[in-house]
Amino acid sequence: MRYDIADLSLAAGGKKRILWADNDMPVLAAIRKRFAKTKLLKGKKVSACLHITAETANLARTLKEGGADIVLCASNPLSTQDDVAASLVKDFKIPVFAICGENRATYYKHINAAIDNKPVITFDDGADLVNELHTRRKKDAHRIIASMEETTTGVIRLRALARAGNLKFTVIAVNDAASKHLFDNRYGTGQSTVDGIIRATDILMAGVKVVVAGYGWCGRGFAMRAMGMGAIVVVTEVDPIRAIEAAMDGFEVMPMSKAAKVGRLFVTLTGNKNVILAEHFKMMQDRAIIANSGHFNVEIDIPALKKMSKKIKRNVRNHVDEYVLKNNRRIQILADGRLINLAAAEGHPASVMDMSFATQALETEYVLKKQGKFEPKVYEVPVEIEQKVCTLKLESMSLAIDKLTPEQKEYLAASDEGT
Ligand SMILES: NC(=O)c1ccc[n+]([C@@H]2O[C@H](COP(=O)([O-])OP(=O)(O)OC[C@H]3O[C@@H](n4cnc5c(N)ncnc54)[C@H](O)[C@@H]3O)[C@@H](O)[C@H]2O)c1
Repeated sequence: MRYDIADLSLAAGGKKRILWADNDMPVLAAIRKRFAKTKLLKGKKVSACLHITAETANLARTLKEGGADIVLCASNPLSTQDDVAASLVKDFKIPVFAICGENRATYYKHINAAIDNKPVITFDDGADLVNELHTRRKKDAHRIIASMEETTTGVIRLRALARAGNLKFTVIAVNDAASKHLFDNRYGTGQSTVDGIIRATDILMAGVKVVVAGYGWCGRGFAMRAMGMGAIVVVTEVDPIRAIEAAMDGFEVMPMSKAAKVGRLFVTLTGNKNVILAEHFKMMQDRAIIANSGHFNVEIDIPALKKMSKKIKRNVRNHVDEYVLKNNRRIQILADGRLINLAAAEGHPASVMDMSFATQALETEYVLKKQGKFEPKVYEVPVEIEQKVCTLKLESMSLAIDKLTPEQKEYLAASDEGT
């Protein structure tokens, strides 16, 4: 078995974490049990470019139980949990190509190793693998039955590819499923971003002025949690609808040019580039802390910060680089502007990844059952799958809900009953 990981001897610790996470992933575990019987994925080659975490390990185990021949590579150079990668290789016999801290060349070498598996199904978190299949590895695109996309930024890239008429195969926007982004992006990113910032800095959130750039699903999750911990939260936005939502949810709303002067902790969650720029760094107070939880490390203009700094102190604390400006103010950048929740903490809690990865697993089954019925387009996850995942999750939480009566169903489907 070919693989490339940091250290196989870390496997014992990784296995414990995989099994611990599995305790909080009952929906995925139930699907795994069923997949082991139906073996719908038997002999199917699958390559998954995802964050190599304990939760991803449980998705990979599920697909393998279904019969898939699965290979994993990282979707971010800093998010690999090396102990989990080791256990996947040693205990679960799943090849992994991922090393935490790998450079760009190794990152792409690993994606290419996953493509060498000749996949018919791929998984992506940010569309880097699919992008490779549309550029340097075009010859391998013809085999793909479908590709699952896990995150907002990936879906945006793939829709752009489809709009330009260049998408070569079917893509499923798993991120856009209600059973995914409403929970994973909001509560998962919300909590784990707080977790990453606190692990990196040990900052007391109470009383701190926190600037949240982007009030999308991730931004609102983080803003809500920061507020709950006593932070004074300011939101910056470019979308008037989301800005009003932020204002009515109780947050101060202002442009970054104003927020830069008042904030102590800045967090970008926009999926956009150059949100915090040189002009903003200049206005910031001494020891302003800046982190990013959006997909790519392009939200903070770190190259500009480098240029305008007279000194850069690396690793003043684990995950913290300090940039000293000419005015002697210090700007502290966390995790080099990469996803703070995965770089400094463990990513989303397993309980929420249970829903995301159950959606992924059920969608994979759906696509295989309906093989041949799809075009090279970006498809949504069917509502039946979203509802199935949410129903199973409710059951696992011992929560019951009411059922529509036949009379109510009829009323909701009719137009004749009014005042
Ligand atoms: N850290 C994680 O683990 C994690 C998890 C899920 C998603 N993500 C990533 O987080 C990012 C946001 O995802 P989302 O689901 O919240 O997306 P979203 O589209 O719901 O929200 C993004 C928001 O940012 C706003 N925005 C865009 N440019 C801006 C700017 N210059 N200034 C201020 N606001 C701006 C948009 O108007 C929008 O409201 C994406 O890159 C996504 O891939 C990260």
